[in-house]
Amino acid sequence: MRKRKNVLSFIFLFISISISSNNILGINLEEYNYGLNVYKKGNCMGCHSWHGKGGGGYGAGVSLRNINLTLDEIINVIKCGRPGTGMPYFFRKAYKEEKCYDTTFEDYDSSYRPLSSKKFLSSKQIEAVSIFVKEVLQDKMLDESYCEFFFKKGSKVCLNLKN
Ligand code: HEC
Repeated sequence: MRKRKNVLSFIFLFISISISSNNILGINLEEYNYGLNVYKKGNCMGCHSWHGKGGGGYGAGVSLRNINLTLDEIINVIKCGRPGTGMPYFFRKAYKEEKCYDTTFEDYDSSYRPLSSKKFLSSKQIEAVSIFVKEVLQDKMLDESYCEFFFKKGSKVCLNLKN
């Protein structure tokens, strides 16, 4: 029952975000503040960089701007990670109380064992950061407004992104 309610409220949230971001001024980045905060909390930028194009860092994550994933797939990758790659799982119960890709830890030998992230995220946080990836990064060009959203208005980092 609880699960169903969660799914419903999530769909609602998603629809309302889609509608409100669908204005002529483009996306209202402020609505993604919570998702951005989760991106920072999970240290996604440690591997995918602040701009989401990946590269650099110790994990050398891929670009999140040219992925081809549905929202559900993004949620699942963040929840479960990608065993055998550097992408860690962020859901505490993953591979233990809850199966991922229909597997538990016992199904892996040490070389393919799913990596745990340093910080775990709640389902709500995973949903929020997934919506952030989907709506703000995927298929979007890096621009000054995103940069100032990530850092702050007038940040020096963003000066050479002026077009
Ligand atoms: C320790 C490094 C690391 C961290 C931290 C990390 N990632 Fe990743 N991520 C990767 C790597 C490496 C891949 C590529 C996996 C592969 O080869 O399939 C990846 C893949 C992904 C993908 C799938 C991309 C695709 O094309 O299929 C998504 C979405 C993603 N990461 C989102 C996130 C988010 C959001 C966070 C923070 C909550 C995060 N990642 C944190 C390393 C990382």
